[in-house]
Amino acid sequence: MTVQTFIPSAVKAASENTVTQPTHTTDVSIKKLYIETQGCQMNEYDSHRMADLLGDSHGYVLTDNPNDADILLMNTCSIREKAQEKVFSGLGRWRKLKEQNPDLVIGVGGCVASQEGDNIQKRAPYVDMVFGPQTLHRLPQMLDQHQAQVEKPKKEKIKLVDISFPDIEKFDFLPEPRVEGFKAFVSIMEGCSKYCSFCVVPYTRGEEVSRPLDDVLAEIAGLAEKGVREISLLGQNVNGYRGETFEGEICTFPELLRLVAEIPGIGRLRYTTSHPLEFSDDLIQCYRDLPQMVSHLHLPVQSGSNDVLQAMKRNHTIDVYIDKIAKLRKVRPDMHLSSDFIIGFPGETDQHFAETLQFIKDLDFDHSYSFVYSKRPGTPASDLPDSTPEQVKKDRLAQVQQVIKQSSIDKTDAMLGKIERVLIEKVSDKDPNVLVGTADNTRLVTFIGDATWVGRFAEIEITEIKTLNLVYGELLNLEPDVA
Ligand code: SAH
Ligand code: F3S
Repeated sequence: MTVQTFIPSAVKAASENTVTQPTHTTDVSIKKLYIETQGCQMNEYDSHRMADLLGDSHGYVLTDNPNDADILLMNTCSIREKAQEKVFSGLGRWRKLKEQNPDLVIGVGGCVASQEGDNIQKRAPYVDMVFGPQTLHRLPQMLDQHQAQVEKPKKEKIKLVDISFPDIEKFDFLPEPRVEGFKAFVSIMEGCSKYCSFCVVPYTRGEEVSRPLDDVLAEIAGLAEKGVREISLLGQNVNGYRGETFEGEICTFPELLRLVAEIPGIGRLRYTTSHPLEFSDDLIQCYRDLPQMVSHLHLPVQSGSNDVLQAMKRNHTIDVYIDKIAKLRKVRPDMHLSSDFIIGFPGETDQHFAETLQFIKDLDFDHSYSFVYSKRPGTPASDLPDSTPEQVKKDRLAQVQQVIKQSSIDKTDAMLGKIERVLIEKVSDKDPNVLVGTADNTRLVTFIGDATWVGRFAEIEITEIKTLNLVYGELLNLEPDVA
């Protein structure tokens, strides 16, 4: 097994495509929607909302086969150049489907749409609709507009492009999320105002806007009532949350966590992605006070060199990060820590890189993500001189990935004999007597148990390490249902 196949669900980075999975049975007479999702969990969340929206407004159901669909939507990512390139090659394939079926509707959303706007239709004129991450709630109207002008001659058609940032309006128009299983994502803020010098997010998703507190709490209470037991709070800079309360005051991220932990039924809390600068003492206290907080934190640092951090405009030093983690480990000694690293940032020397390698070893990270720096048009770092040959960057990446892989193997091995709190998610497909769940550190845990326990938490003693992401165990204690 390669390390790339290990993608902890709560920290999946912008690295792979997914197809939003159908939740309904399919039928030839029903209109079908296919969504390809590229990039981060914010995009996955958005894709599910698109499916909910078009399901409610026009009766579309999801299909996992693009050949079978009446609408194809691509929810795109522009975090690195490679991700962006995928868009036009993917659209090229869809063009052939449209040639066979001229009624097929093609829409492009997400961060590439936001960045490129009507350039998308210049390069791919068969695209019917372009919408951004903050305007996806207008999809039903866009679709109506499209249908209304299908018969019109080309020159009378208006271009359906809407990549504006209408504040947080989006959430007011989204239907209640549909629930499958015991885990759910809840987006609590949009955009990012940190402007790291390499990153496109502030330009593609806009500046930070937090959802009002009551909306977030109501959504989570609704999910808990429908059986959800684990919530992952989502935002590009999630711990920068500053949501307005009903009284017009501001609720911070740690305050939000405390309120969510009081909602009956919520047995586990995760969040992604946080920034070290806003990893406050108050947030660390939540790890001391709230048993629902998982012992797993994804806190991207990007580099182990102060010079590089400064050039990246991360606005903190390595020591600041180290101090925060030391404080956190004081209240949670079993904390699993993961991070993102950018390798080959302009000006990164052998010495800087050596500092990053040493830093990864010193901080004893669990699984982390690492990427070769990708120059993004319009970002400040794209103007920096960069004399490091590509091959040197690739070699550095290989070295860093080796260290990261070894540390996650070590972390899995260290689970042997330990007791893990596990959310029991399902009965094994292979054996009806075996249950499958996830530990705090996102490893899958299987053990012998009863199907009626699904949806509850259990203390499991780990008895065998199977793979990097799968361990076996034995039940020690079954918690009462938290609802
Ligand atoms: N807050 C975001 C983080 C940005 S994107 C989140 O929710 O995930 C995820 C990661 O992509 C970043 O942490 C960074 O390591 C990487 N990344 C961002 N821009 C990049 C670039 N220009 N080149 C290479 N990697 C990049
Ligand atoms: Fe990007 Fe930095 Fe924000 S990585 S998402 S600008 S915290």
